[in-house]
Amino acid sequence: MTMLAILFRAMTKSGMGRPACLVKPVCLSKIPGRYLAHQESLPKLPVPPLKQTCDRYLAALEPIVTPEELQHTHRLVEEFQLPGGLGDRLQSSLERRAKKLENWLSDWWLQTAYLDYRMPVVVHSSPGVVLPRLKFSDWQGQIRYAAKLIAGVLDFKTMIDNETLPVEYLGGNPLCMNQYYQVLSSCRIPGIKKDSVVNHALSNRPPTHITVVHNFQFFVLDVYNRDGTPLTVDQLYIQLEKICTSSLETKNEPIGILTSNHRDCWGKAYANLIKDRTNNESVKAIQKSIFTVCLDAPMPKVSDEMYHTRAAVQMLHGGGSRWNSGNRWFDKTLQFIIGEDGTCGMIYEHAPAEGPPIVALIDHVVEYTKKSEMICTPTVPLPMPRKLHFNITPEIKRDIEEAKQNINIMVNDLDVRVIVFTNFGKNVPKSYKMSPDAFIQVALQLAYYRLYKRCSATYESASLRMFRLGRTDTIRSASIAAANFVRAMDDPVQQNPEKVRLLDKAVKAHRAYTDMAIRGQAIDRHLLGLRLQAVEDMSALPKIFTDKSYAIANHYNLSTSQVPAKTDCVMCFGPVVPDGYGVCYNPMEKHINFAVSAFNSCADTNATQLAHGLHDALVDMRSLLDQTLKSKL
Ligand code: COA
Repeated sequence: MTMLAILFRAMTKSGMGRPACLVKPVCLSKIPGRYLAHQESLPKLPVPPLKQTCDRYLAALEPIVTPEELQHTHRLVEEFQLPGGLGDRLQSSLERRAKKLENWLSDWWLQTAYLDYRMPVVVHSSPGVVLPRLKFSDWQGQIRYAAKLIAGVLDFKTMIDNETLPVEYLGGNPLCMNQYYQVLSSCRIPGIKKDSVVNHALSNRPPTHITVVHNFQFFVLDVYNRDGTPLTVDQLYIQLEKICTSSLETKNEPIGILTSNHRDCWGKAYANLIKDRTNNESVKAIQKSIFTVCLDAPMPKVSDEMYHTRAAVQMLHGGGSRWNSGNRWFDKTLQFIIGEDGTCGMIYEHAPAEGPPIVALIDHVVEYTKKSEMICTPTVPLPMPRKLHFNITPEIKRDIEEAKQNINIMVNDLDVRVIVFTNFGKNVPKSYKMSPDAFIQVALQLAYYRLYKRCSATYESASLRMFRLGRTDTIRSASIAAANFVRAMDDPVQQNPEKVRLLDKAVKAHRAYTDMAIRGQAIDRHLLGLRLQAVEDMSALPKIFTDKSYAIANHYNLSTSQVPAKTDCVMCFGPVVPDGYGVCYNPMEKHINFAVSAFNSCADTNATQLAHGLHDALVDMRSLLDQTLKSKL
């Protein structure tokens, strides 16, 4: 374990780590400038040394490429690093960029990872969150809960507006809080070749409305009284009731389904849609709104075991044009989804933020909904929420039909399995003095190896929020140490003590990689930076970026992320390659929620199979430790 890792652990253990309690309002009155002062105190994202990245890149390739491919890449990397060579020049340019900008990476990352990416945001980019099932099965229960949820989000917004949001910590270090300021009143806007994001929170007249969608119809709901106080839960209930009754009977074209299409198609359809003044005003009202609430129709009933899986697909894509996919505006940053059947969760557009701030908001809202009751205070009658109208020309109708067909194909293609692993949670790895996250990642490597008899490039998100405007880097979980362990685990000639030694090494290697990544010393964003710098400075890309090994290293068959929450929820997202898996998990103290996804169009992948494999790998790794270490005592 590195010195840094020891330091990290010591700080976390001494209570300097992340705050133990939920994000609660600490001060109601405004603290202007607090956010800026905090942000300015954060360090800038470093540019790692070139040699360090090159060495670590070669080590990362070892378990996933052939010896010949590795040898070839070795030569390219050496050539790249020659004094005064391409690598040196790019590194200097990158260092100059880092001096000039607040964060050398964040704009590039926003563009390349999100806004230039042309696949639909649905399944391919936007994560969903499944919340615990609620105990209602009628629309009155649905809007009662929706009213509480809206009030809870507005309560969180007060902290953002007043700059009283408590600063979060990781390993004793304060984190960048910028993402919290990007998720409300914001929206992605489609373009023909690239998209953009608007944020109305900082405009002169920040919005005071949310949008509510029910039965494919959008409504503007003002959520503040004239005196600036937020509407109470009972006021919100009355307003939502008006929306539901007025939209129940009418049938409208599912205009929102357009947002699920390929970005170039949607960009074209969007340009045409907003030519009409009414349509333009309606679209702008959605984009400007603080957030969207989707009041969904009930979905087909499933067994208790399959409930979370069914809820996950509802959050990710809405179930297709027959069900709730038209009850969304997928470009909206935050959409809270409440089904008439008690399903609850959300989907968020990924460009402005990562999962952890979203889940912190959810934790706050869930706590808020538990304590807020309707009190039926007499209130002044409020105006009817305004319905947003759309004029549907034959061309728009054609675009809607095309989007319907495409989302139905996507719905049939997505294979999801959510499992609640109840044998143990973070407690067991901790009792063996192992990092729970590293333990889970090694189990994933084992599950994958057992299915495919090889290791593949694996992505785990690591937070870069210790740095100003930091987003993420990659922890490459398919390490040499993990490969050694997974090969040994089922090998009958290996003895248990040796397997335990290899497991311990793999877990420690993973935790060491994590520590390096969160300190801005991982390889992937640095390599991306060098590549993008080459695009800016040079006419040709250096050979290391056109090399086969580079393509293999970036073909993530396993795309994974830990998104921990206090709430017993799970985040879910789609695979990032056609033959890959998306795996997201929330490790609780005594159980772990996993969401696994794959594509049905790939004959080699199967979400349920990997989920079961993961279950078995965790159980087997624990038994190995129990049998070997407990017998020693
Ligand atoms: N012995 C005993 N306990 C240990 C331990 C050890 N060797 N190592 C870690 N632990 C404890 C920690 O103290 C911590 O305790 P807590 O439950 O009281 O908080 C707990 O185990 C979890 O630590 P660990 O499993 O190592 O993971 P982590 O919380 O440090 O998270 C990452 C690791 C990579 C997930 C985190 O650093 C990160 O970057 N998160 C952001 C990811 C992200 O952005 N995802 C969203 C993408 S959309």
